[in-house]
Amino acid sequence: MADKPFLTDIKTLRKRAREHMEQGAMTPGYKADRDVVVKLLNEALATEIVCTLRYKRHYFMASGINADSVATEFLEHANDEQGHADQIAQRIVQLGGEPNFSPEGLLMRSHAEYVEGETLVSMIREDLVAERIAIDSYREMVNYLGNNDPTSRRLMEGILAVEEEHADDLVNLLEKTER
Ligand SMILES: [Fe+2]
Ligand SMILES: [Fe+2]
Repeated sequence: MADKPFLTDIKTLRKRAREHMEQGAMTPGYKADRDVVVKLLNEALATEIVCTLRYKRHYFMASGINADSVATEFLEHANDEQGHADQIAQRIVQLGGEPNFSPEGLLMRSHAEYVEGETLVSMIREDLVAERIAIDSYREMVNYLGNNDPTSRRLMEGILAVEEEHADDLVNLLEKTER
């Protein structure tokens, strides 16, 4: 043990892997508080669903007023958020939890809000606010997960990077639209 202080010996690893096999990817070496992680992931899932719905609404409304380039951007973001929701739901199941897709309480679980927006500019602004909320809350999640659940952390880091791109897109869109 002295020369390999960080590694569990192979015999113990093999023995542990055979125990509780029905738990799949959840091994005894999992360091995080699983229930807390599932709860946090479900809040992120709700956030992604709300963002998908809001971007969809904005996409159709922008299409209606012939703001095609903005509409295209909204649709791309809607599809990205839908993809994030799927990735998060998949991870929740891997952790032995259940993804919460219930419309009941969706807005309460979500960090970001659903604001319809009256004008093109107000839609972009509301989306930007929502992205900035997601960025802050996902960054906190990443910090919380740390090395205790590196898989969930990497997932959220990847999503966080895309939300930062979204925010950047929206700032550029806002500049062009307000002019
Ligand atoms: Fe997202
Ligand atoms: Fe986003």
